[in-house]
Amino acid sequence: MPESLSPADVAKRNAAARALNFVEDGMKLGLGTGSTAAWFVRLLSERITSEGLDITAVATSSTTVFLAEDLGVPLRSLDRVGRLDLTVDGADEFDIGLNLIKGGGAALLQEKIVASSSDRLVIITDPAKRVKDLGAFPLPVEVVQFGSSLTQAAIDEILRDADVDGTDITLRLNKEKPLVTDEGHYILDLHLGRIGNPAKLAHDLNTLPGVVESGLFIDLADAVVVGHENGETELILRDTALDAVEMMHNEDA
Ligand code: A5P
Repeated sequence: MPESLSPADVAKRNAAARALNFVEDGMKLGLGTGSTAAWFVRLLSERITSEGLDITAVATSSTTVFLAEDLGVPLRSLDRVGRLDLTVDGADEFDIGLNLIKGGGAALLQEKIVASSSDRLVIITDPAKRVKDLGAFPLPVEVVQFGSSLTQAAIDEILRDADVDGTDITLRLNKEKPLVTDEGHYILDLHLGRIGNPAKLAHDLNTLPGVVESGLFIDLADAVVVGHENGETELILRDTALDAVEMMHNEDA
C-alpha cells in the first residue's frame, strides 16, 4: 500500500477490500460514488484483471463512469441490465439502524435509484461516518431548478415542525454558481444538526413537488462495512442492527 495514504484512506480501502468478498463471478453490480466507493472500483478492477472475474456494472454518477471506464470495469446502463445483485456504495453518515445520509458527492438520486434496484446494498465507510443521530452532516436534497427558491421556502416550512436542531438551508455551489447534478437539478443542503425522526422527514420532504429526492436512505442498507486504519473491519448486518435498535428502544421505555 502506498505510504502517502492518509489513515482515513487506509480505512476506506480496508472497507472496500472486505466488501469485495461479496462479489461473485457473473454478478450484476451497482457502483457507488465518492472516495470510498472509488476504492471499491479500483480493487474490483484489480480482481477483474487478476482473476478474469466476469461482472456487469452500473455506475451511479458521471464521476464513477469516468473512473470505471478508465480502469476497464465493464459498464452498462441500468435500463439495459435491469435488477442488480449487489450495490456497494459509501455514505456520509450511518446510524445504529443503518439509516444513512448520502449525497455529499451530489450523486444521491442515481445512488438511490441504483440502491433501490439492488437485491443487496452494502455500505463501506471509515469509522468517522458512524453517528448516534443523523444530521451533523448537512442533509442534501435534490430539487428541480424551476421554482427552486419556492421549494426551499416549502422545505423551510416543513423544518419548522420537524424534530431537528437547526433549520438553515444553503444552495450548493460549484465555483460560485449553483451546482447542477448529473440529472440537471440543484442541491439544497439542510443544516439540521440532529434529525430526530429521519423516516418522517424523508417522507415529508418527498411530498413537495419540487423535491426530487432527499439524501436520507431509510431501510435500504443491508450491511455496513466499517474499515479501520489498523487493518480490522467490522461487518454490521441489518438484522443485527435492527435488534440493537429494538434493544435501545426497550431501554429507553
Ligand atoms: C455521493 O453522492 C455520496 O453519497 C457518497 O457516497 C458519500 O458522500 C460518501 O463519500 P466519501 O466516500 O467520499 O466520504
